[in-house]
Formats: sequence, structure tokens, C-alpha cells
Amino acid sequence: MKSDCTLDKYKALLATKGFTLLKDIDYFDTFAPIARRTSIRLFIDLEIIHGLVIHQMDVKTAFLNRDIDEEVYIKQPEGFVIPGQECKVYEFGWKERMRVATNYALVLKILTMKKLDLIWSCDDILIDEISNESLILLLSKDVLQYILETPVYPREQELLKEIRIITANHPLSIMASPPDSGQLIALLLKLINPKKTIEIGVFTEYSLLLTALAIPQDGKITAIDMDRDTYEMGLPVIKKAGVEHKINFIQSPALSVLDELLEDHENRRSFDFAFVDADKDNYQKYHERLWQLLKVGGIVVYDNTLWNGTVAMPEGSTKEELKPNRLHIVEFNKFLAVDYHFQISQVRLGDGITICRRL
Ligand SMILES: C[S@@+](CC[C@H](N)C(=O)[O-])C[C@H]1O[C@@H](n2cnc3c(N)ncnc32)[C@H](O)[C@@H]1O
Repeated sequence: MKSDCTLDKYKALLATKGFTLLKDIDYFDTFAPIARRTSIRLFIDLEIIHGLVIHQMDVKTAFLNRDIDEEVYIKQPEGFVIPGQECKVYEFGWKERMRVATNYALVLKILTMKKLDLIWSCDDILIDEISNESLILLLSKDVLQYILETPVYPREQELLKEIRIITANHPLSIMASPPDSGQLIALLLKLINPKKTIEIGVFTEYSLLLTALAIPQDGKITAIDMDRDTYEMGLPVIKKAGVEHKINFIQSPALSVLDELLEDHENRRSFDFAFVDADKDNYQKYHERLWQLLKVGGIVVYDNTLWNGTVAMPEGSTKEELKPNRLHIVEFNKFLAVDYHFQISQVRLGDGITICRRL
């Protein structure tokens, strides 16, 4: 209250979910809406000293001013619960999750460093440790699962499925093109019916097989990868599909192969399609060469152009292992955005793909 008896500020009362305040008992009580950081530290210190495990913390409020990686779920509000889906929670998008209380982030950091299984409940908010799956771009796991199960898996060709299953045993199986992106690329290939194509980054041949299956009988693919062993993994399936004759596999760093192709003037402006899915630091160099190799109207598709969504995150919120390529992809996206030799579209599929049509 000010000296002239007028009110300067109203006290804010934080009424928590459940509306547990009772008239004539604690109706006019006010509570400190923020737990003191020292109190939280004290509990964590005790936990560390005594080797205990924190399974859950109930927190009443969050101030949104700090980046976090954790997944955040909210229960459906009372009165707005979808019938038949009572047990479902709403998942915050990463942008919404980016900003959470400073002391939360601090505490979470301590907890995750100790590699605890953390479930933090803040009345209606649950926070748990981030998983790779949560980085499926801008889609909830449920929506992605729906897409895979509805239009993708039932239409995936048996031999592609076979490669996917073979690849699942590889420790880097995550590198294979996801089937939903594959479905779009196969559709593009059918639209342009390419005779001459390039693939940079073959791995166990998921994208190579889908390309070989989609192009015409006399179509050719220059398939480049530094690793022959992974190429050998999918080769029996390529043979079974009867498309080996379409593939010229070259074991080499891709850049030198593109330069060699360019030395032969016949190759210039002769390719109809290219798929680029290897070393991100060279994307811009590949692009400069592919511009010369592609026909007018030819298409080049770049994979991983959203790099786990990190392109839109601050550097500080990016996991260490994603940082180097994040910078390359950010630069490449900027470069493509102003390259008017191509019509482009960046698609939120898989890890992000950018489709470019040479003008
Ligand atoms: C993401 S994987 C390709 C996935 C593949 N497109 C698929 O659908 O399964 C990347 C591949 O690029 C290869 N690679 C990495 N750097 C390369 C380079 N400089 N030149 C050619 N291949 C390279 C790796 O050996 C790896 O097999």
C-alpha cells in the first residue's frame, strides 16, 4: 500500500489444481509461489550424500526463462478431457519447452549428470529425460506411429522391408533413410522417371533399393559410399530384386567422384536426379557440382536438413555430438535459401529433407 493509502500492488495467490483452499480455514493464506533454490539444493545434497535416488518432485510453479531438453507432458485440463482418451497427455512442442525456470534447469542438470531416471512432476506437468525418439521432428511419437502404420508400412515393398530388418542389426541403423521419407522420394522418382541418377551415401541400401525399384529398367544409378562393408549387407536383397544392373557402386569419397564426372563434358547437365545423404560438411560443395551435373528440371534431394531440429535451437541447447554438423546444415540451409538456380522445398519428414529443382 502506498503512503496515500492507495493500493500499489495486489498480492497474487497461487491457487493450485484441485482448489484445495477452504473458506474460513486457509482461504486467505498466501504461499511463497517459488521454492527457494537453496531448499531444492538441500534435498539434492542429502540425496547425493546418502546415495539416495530422487524418483519424483512435486513443484507448483515454473518460470519460463531457461532452455531445457526434457520432454514435458501436461494432463488434459479438467472439463476438457477427450472421452475415450482419458489417459492421454499433451506433449509440449520443443519451442514451448525451451524456457523453464533457471533453478529447474540447474537441478535437472545435476540429476541427469548422475544419470538418474528422472520423472519430475509439477502438478500437471511431467518432465522426464529426453530420448532420441522425442527428436522426431515436430511430430508426437503417436502421430509418427500413425503415419508409419497407416500409409507407410502397409505399402512398403517386401524387399525394402527386408533391408530395413537387416539394417536394424547395425549399430548405426539410425542412419538409414526412414520409410516415410523413402515413400516421398519414390513418389518423386516415379513423377520424373529418371534415367541417370546419383546417390551420395549408400549405407545398407535402403534409399538405393527404393531408387533402383522406382527408376525405369534402363535407368542407371552412380552410387557412392566410402564403406563397402555396409554396401555388402544389402547387396543380396538388391540382387534378389533384380536391379543390380542399374547400379554402379563406387567406393570412394563422393567429392572426387563428382569432380571426375565433371571432367567428362558429356556428364554435364545430363543427370535427372540425385540423393545426397552423406557427410554434411560437404553439402555445399556437392550442391555446386550437382548444379553442373543436373539437367534443367532435374531434382536433388538433401537428407537431414533439419538435423534433429537443432537448426532452430540455440547452440547451447544442442547435444555435443550434434553440434559440428548442426553448424554445417545451418550454413547450408542459408545458402540454399538464396540459391535462385533452384526451386526448393524443405519438408518436415524424417530428419528433414530439402527437395531442389534445377531451374
Ligand atoms: C546416412 S548414411 C546413408 C544412408 C542411406 N542413404 C540409406 O538410406 O540407408 C551415410 C553414408 O555416407 C557414407 N559417407 C560418409 N562420408 C562420405 C563421403 N565423404 N563420401 C561418400 N560416402 C560417405 C557413410 O559411409 C554412410 O554409409
